[in-house]
Amino acid sequence: MIGLEDITYSYRTGEYKALDHISLTFRRGEWVSIIGHNGSGKSTLVKILMGILDDYEGSITVDGELLDEENRITMRKKFAIVFQNPDNQFVGATVEDDVAFGLENNGVPRDEMVRRTEEALKAVNMLEFRDHEPSRLSGGQKQRVAIASALAMAPDVLILDEATSMIDPEGRREVLDILRTIHRRGKTTLIFITHDLSEIEDSDHAVIMKDGQIISEGTVEEIYKDTDALLASRLVLPFHMKISKRLLDGSFLSYDELVERL
Ligand SMILES: Nc1ncnc2c1ncn2[C@@H]1O[C@H](COP(=O)(O)OP(=O)(O)OP(=O)(O)O)[C@@H](O)[C@H]1O
Ligand SMILES: [Mg+2]
Repeated sequence: MIGLEDITYSYRTGEYKALDHISLTFRRGEWVSIIGHNGSGKSTLVKILMGILDDYEGSITVDGELLDEENRITMRKKFAIVFQNPDNQFVGATVEDDVAFGLENNGVPRDEMVRRTEEALKAVNMLEFRDHEPSRLSGGQKQRVAIASALAMAPDVLILDEATSMIDPEGRREVLDILRTIHRRGKTTLIFITHDLSEIEDSDHAVIMKDGQIISEGTVEEIYKDTDALLASRLVLPFHMKISKRLLDGSFLSYDELVERL
């Protein structure tokens, strides 16, 4: 669905490349995780995909169409994003208003707006909170509402840029559960950015970035076996991966694989 071809980008103030010859493919309905240490270029990649940064080298195709000056605005509508800070993304006084906001802005007729708002809140298990004030929700609940607001726009691609990094473990589990449900429906391409390796296990494809480059990509199993890239990435390894490396054959295993082997 999306093809990045040899993308290079430098910020005006930066002496080095924030993205350095990145080529990447996202298939429709696929869950792709992008992992990397601080400053590895993950958010820059997202900004380029969303059309926020446009002076890059290389080319991007979305649904077979080359992204350019003319179609940038229409293409952007295919994407929705959930950010890191659960407190910075609310505009509505109630959960329901918040989810409806984007639809109203786009001139969606009232009946349809009500239906889509309900559907989106149902999808993230937050319908019963429709009259609540967003600021009084837990971190996980806030991110679920943010996901509902994104889903209500019926995007082809849902991007989560470290959307789990500021919430507690319970909240993270809630968000990942919702992503699994969205993924099972198969309609939405998920781009999930994290620096927590234990959160990639459900993705179809994972990419490790370092200093603006892709240093490894493949299935989660392939990523876990790429010990050189994992060590080079300077990511914190989850406990079960450290255990599997120390106790078993020196390779990293997924949680389930480790349980089985033990
Ligand atoms: N607005 C900006 N101006 C100049 N340099 C920037 C800007 N935004 C990011 N950079 C630089 O570009 C590089 C990539 O940053 P980016 O935000 O894409 O990394 P990231 O992988 O998202 O990191 P994090 O995990 O901290 O969110 C970094 O070296 C960063 O300092
Ligand atoms: Mg970032």
